[in-house]
Amino acid sequence: MSRGNESSSERKGGGEVEQIENYQAKLTTGGKVKNHFKRFWWAHLIAFCAGFLIIALCLVYVAMPKIAQKGIDDATLSYNSLKFMKPTLDTLTVSVDAVQHSDSPFTPTLDAFNVSMHLVKDGVRHDKVITQLRMPQVHAQHPGTSIIINDQETKIVDIDQVTEFCKQVLTQESITVIMEGKTKLHLGALPVNSVTYNSSITFKALNGFKGFNITQPKIDLLAEPGQPNLLGMALIPNPSVLTVELGTVVMNISTKEKGLIGNSTIENFILKPGQNLLPIKAIVDQALVLGSVNSKTGIVNMIIVGQTAVYNGVHLPYFEAALKSHTITLPVDLQTLLSGT
Ligand SMILES: *[C@@H]1O[C@H](CO)[C@@H](O)[C@H](O)[C@H]1NC(C)=O
Ligand SMILES: *[C@@H]1O[C@H](CO)[C@@H](O)[C@H](O)[C@H]1NC(C)=O
Ligand SMILES: *[C@@H]1O[C@H](CO)[C@@H](O)[C@H](O)[C@H]1NC(C)=O
Ligand SMILES: *[C@@H]1O[C@H](CO)[C@@H](O)[C@H](O)[C@H]1NC(C)=O
Ligand SMILES: *[C@@H]1O[C@H](CO)[C@@H](O)[C@H](O)[C@H]1NC(C)=O
Repeated sequence: MSRGNESSSERKGGGEVEQIENYQAKLTTGGKVKNHFKRFWWAHLIAFCAGFLIIALCLVYVAMPKIAQKGIDDATLSYNSLKFMKPTLDTLTVSVDAVQHSDSPFTPTLDAFNVSMHLVKDGVRHDKVITQLRMPQVHAQHPGTSIIINDQETKIVDIDQVTEFCKQVLTQESITVIMEGKTKLHLGALPVNSVTYNSSITFKALNGFKGFNITQPKIDLLAEPGQPNLLGMALIPNPSVLTVELGTVVMNISTKEKGLIGNSTIENFILKPGQNLLPIKAIVDQALVLGSVNSKTGIVNMIIVGQTAVYNGVHLPYFEAALKSHTITLPVDLQTLLSGT
């Protein structure tokens, strides 16, 4: 460009004057702008501040609630332990040790709130509530936030839902529940946001007591009628993090050949995570047991179905219904059975 200007000024001669005029014109425009800023700087400052404020307010009042909600929605919950103790007709004493995982860079505080637990069956959330838990105030931390509830007596909201929950827990490999509630989220000096807590959790369940066995079974041929004559240790694997107090559990024992042959009892049945080894005593009709032995294999196939669960003298219909819904078949070697006598 400058080379072009030089050559044109060489040719025209008057080009230099033109250039100076241009420069002066520019100078005056610049001066005008400068003057304008000098006189109206406050207006620009106000405009700038207003713009800044609008953006900030949009962030705080429009984006922030969405970011806060998204943070809650994206967080996932997992249980380290979940305990259902001291069952009564309308309450359970619940303890929870859970971790809330979140990738969000924010570490807000959530107010204490009530969370209702819903059952999910075949991927569909049930509207009715199983139970309601009082969640403590939680301050989010990285990488996970610990949520601890100790021995909280919770009301059974809907007995049918609790029964269905117990059935699923007993029979399924895993179960899904949704924890729902509304709370307030605090983050630094920012305005408080209302958020909806809606977290779906899938966790391992009891898987039908798969691997149930009776170790060291002994038949007591001398037992008085009506007294336990088959004793042993019930081996009950619990692959979940659940602890469930069931009370005294009576299970019917039958065989395909003879029908009902007796029943077995586990007292103070508290199922803990891992391998449970609990004393079991049964009253069986020995003649019917012998009549059920497979003559080729020497094995009795015992069909075991829960019948009653009694805690503090009270029948617990939700446990009983669940126990009745599940059948365990246990092959027992008669040789082993008699070797203990
Ligand atoms: C939770 O619900 C109970 C009643 O069921 C109520 O008394 C309590 O105030 C609620 N707590 C919160 C934090 O909303
Ligand atoms: C929670 O999420 C489930 C779907 O996962 C939905 O059906 C339910 O309506 C939601 N609850 C609330 C209170 O938004
Ligand atoms: C039960 O335990 C015995 C040995 O203690 C074993 O031989 C048997 O296979 C086990 N049964 C089941 C169903 O696990
Ligand atoms: C268990 O046995 C009792 C009789 O002792 C019977 O009334 C009941 O129906 C049986 N329950 C199941 C689930 O088979
Ligand atoms: C268990 O069997 C005994 C003896 O047959 C009987 O008296 C008792 O009622 C049975 N219990 C249940 C819960 O079926």
